[in-house]
Amino acid sequence: MKQVLTKSNEETRELARQFACSLRRGDCVALTGSLGAGKTEFARGIADVFNCADQLNSPTFTILNIYDGSLKGIPYRLYHFDWYRLNSPEELYDIGFEEFLYGNGISVIEWADKFPDLVPKTAKRIELRRASDSERLITFEQDYPLR
Ligand SMILES: Nc1ncnc2c1ncn2[C@@H]1O[C@H](COP(=O)(O)OP(=O)(O)O)[C@@H](O)[C@H]1O
Ligand SMILES: [Mg+2]
Repeated sequence: MKQVLTKSNEETRELARQFACSLRRGDCVALTGSLGAGKTEFARGIADVFNCADQLNSPTFTILNIYDGSLKGIPYRLYHFDWYRLNSPEELYDIGFEEFLYGNGISVIEWADKFPDLVPKTAKRIELRRASDSERLITFEQDYPLR
């Protein structure tokens, strides 16, 4: 386990960028934490590393956004899930979510704890908790090599 207290959204993004450097094709990042905890900020940091953060700007509330990214000239596809508005797993099965989660892109799930059984066992679990207006306590289930 590893815990980091960030003091701004930029610090959270930077932490996510450092973490994202350890990601490999097929990895899934499961983010938990309440509304405003910083899950999207964290996802933005990951998208930064894969050079597709510009595609993350749409303020839509879709279950899944797909970004075409790249790292060191190699294309990566990012699957950005948000399960907040999901009422039942059926909606995920309807879009064939397993093909994405278990494919060779990188998946990031916000509100992963809504359907814990649907989160891949190998997912990298990260919990974000509001500590104050500008502080977030970010807990990595495993200790990843951060730069
Ligand atoms: N240390 C911090 N880390 C991340 N976000 C922060 C932090 N301090 C303040 N914030 C603010 O909290 C909000 C987090 O929003 P967001 O990432 O969309 O949350 P979530 O996706 O978990 O609902 C943003 O408005 C951000 O600017
Ligand atoms: Mg969000």
